[in-house]
This record gives sequence, structure tokens and C-alpha cells, in this order.
Amino acid sequence: MRAPGMRSRPAGPALLLLLLFLEAAESVRRAQPRRRYTPDWPSLDSRPLPAWFDEAKFGVFIHWGVFSVPAWGSEWFWWHWQGEGRPQYQRFMRDNYPPGFSYADFGPQFTARFFHPEEWADLFQAAAAPLPGSGGKQEVGLGGQLGLAVLFFCLRNIRYGLYHSLLEWFHPLYLLDKKNGFKTQHFVSAKTMPELYDLVNSYKPDLIWSDGEWECPDTYWNSTNFLSWLYNDSPVKDEVVVNDRWGQNCSCHHGGYYNCEDKFKPQSLPDHKWEMCTSIDKFSWGYRRDMAMSDVTEESEIISELVQTVSLGGNYLLNIGPTKDGLIVPIFQERLLAVGKWLSINGEAIYASKPWRVQWEKNTTSVWYTSKGSAVYAIFLHWPENGVLNLESPITTSTTKITMLGIQGDLKWSTDPDKGLLISLPQLPPSAVPAEFAWTIKLTGVK
Ligand SMILES: *[C@@H]1O[C@H](CO)[C@@H](O)[C@H](O)[C@H]1NC(C)=O
Ligand SMILES: *[C@@H]1O[C@H](CO)[C@@H](O)[C@H](O)[C@H]1NC(C)=O
Ligand SMILES: *[C@@H]1O[C@H](CO)[C@@H](O)[C@H](O)[C@H]1NC(C)=O
Repeated sequence: MRAPGMRSRPAGPALLLLLLFLEAAESVRRAQPRRRYTPDWPSLDSRPLPAWFDEAKFGVFIHWGVFSVPAWGSEWFWWHWQGEGRPQYQRFMRDNYPPGFSYADFGPQFTARFFHPEEWADLFQAAAAPLPGSGGKQEVGLGGQLGLAVLFFCLRNIRYGLYHSLLEWFHPLYLLDKKNGFKTQHFVSAKTMPELYDLVNSYKPDLIWSDGEWECPDTYWNSTNFLSWLYNDSPVKDEVVVNDRWGQNCSCHHGGYYNCEDKFKPQSLPDHKWEMCTSIDKFSWGYRRDMAMSDVTEESEIISELVQTVSLGGNYLLNIGPTKDGLIVPIFQERLLAVGKWLSINGEAIYASKPWRVQWEKNTTSVWYTSKGSAVYAIFLHWPENGVLNLESPITTSTTKITMLGIQGDLKWSTDPDKGLLISLPQLPPSAVPAEFAWTIKLTGVK
């Protein structure tokens, strides 16, 4: 377990992790005006964020790697075991593996034996329900890089990104540079940079989720040089999006959108695009066999976090860890499908929405607003016992019209000089209520 906000992603070789952004159906590829960026933060930070990212709102994050073989504790397994020498990790190894067993010895067991990329693709499509269907299926079952290529192919209308850790805990060249106080860049020139250029040229990702930056300044990582190439000359220059982990003190200050820390939740509307990344397993990003039911985030909490994040202008990136065989366990499937089911009713209030002038009703934290065009959406997390939803912020006009997503017909409403808008919610049998948690009121003709 880790204190909130602490870096919790892995850093080691052979970690090709990916994340996927589910794109709003109405989003179209829009070219940015051509201009050249110079390798410095003022220039790089001035690049407009490609529009698709803000419209996407929801993404699936995947941590899958050699740590999925021991599948115990967390994806930081190697570091906890051999970097820090935590006793419980050493005990786990003593109890389950022969003496002298190394982290690299887990490698051959990372077989992805049952990895069917088209099944993953179908699941991710279903998690973003309003997207058009995923089309025909091909029966393919390929591991390794070809499998990933097939996965990307299957994703079609889904944007995909790649996770990349700048540092490597135990790489000899990294350790050499570290010994030299990071005055030398052997690791960066021999490993990090060639790998990053290769990832971009080979996989043409829509997003690069950088991490593992925290021990060195961006000048050591050569980040601004890489980013200026990425934005000026790379095959993905018009559409690619990056996060903010490019060197010490960059996070929350420089780069593309801001992750700030893991599981970041701002207290008010930020003035820069941001993303909350979080994991269905509260204590690990990679799959672990010792996950308990109480470690699994509730569906209601996932929906509530999605809603709050989008109201505050953020994107929500929800993580799962597949097994070493390439399977996504049913509890993770269920959570992703629950998001898809909720979005199939309420997606109109989420995809391509913008923050409204008010983000939430101030005397309750259970009503959150978004907007799109002339519509304002009030998403409420608790159904009021008296069946009347009280909203203080919207100002009604002669053209005000109020509906609930997933329900036919207008809702009755009135205004009260003290309380504001009073909306009579429909009285429905449980089977007719459009969602289990969080319902959306659509208001038009309000200010
Ligand atoms: C940093 O990037 C520049 C521009 O691409 C390159 O000339 C230089 O060799 C790079 N330095 C390292 C250490 O990779
Ligand atoms: C990052 O910030 C810390 C604390 O303000 C400072 O000590 C450190 O020198 C900074 N690092 C860089 C690379 O600017
Ligand atoms: C806000 O507080 C007032 C006074 O306590 C109360 O009458 C009103 O119903 C509250 N509004 C909401 C939306 O809960």
C-alpha cells in the first residue's frame, strides 16, 4: 500500500504498457495549424492541445508486464523486492521460488497465452458505449508485438497511447549516470531516446504517457528536444498528446495536459487541461493475485469520480491489470462494462462537454454540472427522498425545458425564492430507472 499521491507506476525493462482513449463519436480529426516549436518549455507549452483529447473524457489504462507474472503485491514488485528489500517480498520469493531466482527469470512465463486482442478491443469499445459498434471480428491470437499491433488495429475508432517510463531502476547505464550525479547521459543517448523515437515511429501513438521522470531534470532526459521533434516532424505531429512527466518539477507545470500526481483531484476548476488516473484495484496498477474484494473500487465510486472529474474539466483514466496470460479478470470487465452502461444513457452529458459556470452545487457535493452548446447538465449522485431535486445555480427563463436522460418527456418544475429551482423527478419502478447510480437532468433555456 502506498500513500496517496506517491508515484506508483513501474519502471523497468520490457514494460510496454498502453492506455487507450475512447474518443467521442462526434470528434473528428482536426489538423492544428502548422508551426515550428523550439526545444524549450515556453514554445512547447504554447502548442494547442489537439481537440480530440478534451472531447474523449474517458480512457482505459492498462498495466501489463513481467510484474504480472509474480502478480503479487504491486507492479513495483521488482523494486520492493530487490531495490528496497521489503521483508514480505523476500519472504514471498523464498516461499515460492527456488534460491537464486531473478526478476528476469519471470520473463519466459510472460506468455500472453490467452491474449486475444480483439476481445480486449470489444471490451474497451463496450466501456465507451456510445461509440459505433466494433465491426467484424477476426480470430487472431498472437502474443508479443504483433499481438499489440493487432490490438491497435482492432481498436479502430479508439485512440491509443503508450506508457513510457524514462528511468529504469536497475539499468547499468542509468546506474552509471546516477553515480555521476546525472552529469553524463549514457543511458539517455543509448536507451531512452532511441526507444522513444522507435515507439513513435513504429506504433504511431495518439498519446504518450510519460513517467519515471522524478530523479532528474528535463535537461538530463533531453525531453524538450524529443518533444520538439514529436510536435514538428514526427508521424503523429498533428494529433499526438502528451502528459506532464518530463523531468523534475515539470509535473503540473509543463508538457501537454497535466496529470500532476496519481489520482489527482483538484479542489476547483483548473485553468489547464488535466487528467485523473486511477486504478480499479485501489492498491495496485498491475494485476495481483492477492487482491481482495474490498480492494476493488465500487461502481458507484467509479461513476462518481468520472462525473466529478469531467465537471472540473478533467479526463478520467481508469486502470486495469491483465494477467500474465493476457486475460482481464471478470471483476475488472464488470467495472468497465458498468461504465459503458452508464455512458450509454448519460454519455451526452460527458463526451465533448465543457465545464459550466458552476461545477457543483455548493451546499451539497452530490450535484455536478457539465455543459454542451446551450444545454446544461446536472448530474445528481443521490436520489432525493422526497423526489424533488433542488438546484440553486441554474436561472430559469421563459424558454426553460427540463428532461432526464434516458426518460421520455419533460419534467415538471417550479421555482422558489429561497431555494431556487425545484424539479419533480419521475416516479418510476426500479426497473425503469435509467441508471443505478447518478442520473442526469438536462436543462435548456437556463442561464
Ligand atoms: C538530445 O537531443 C538532441 C536533438 O535531437 C541530440 O542532438 C542530442 O544528441 C540528444 N542528447 C542525448 C544525450 O541523447
Ligand atoms: C525542483 O524543485 C525542488 C524544490 O523546489 C528544487 O530543490 C530542485 O532544485 C528543483 N529541480 C529542478 C531540476 O529544477
Ligand atoms: C441548500 O441549503 C438550503 C438551506 O439549508 C436548503 O434549503 C436547500 O435545499 C439546499 N439545497 C440543496 C440543493 O441541497
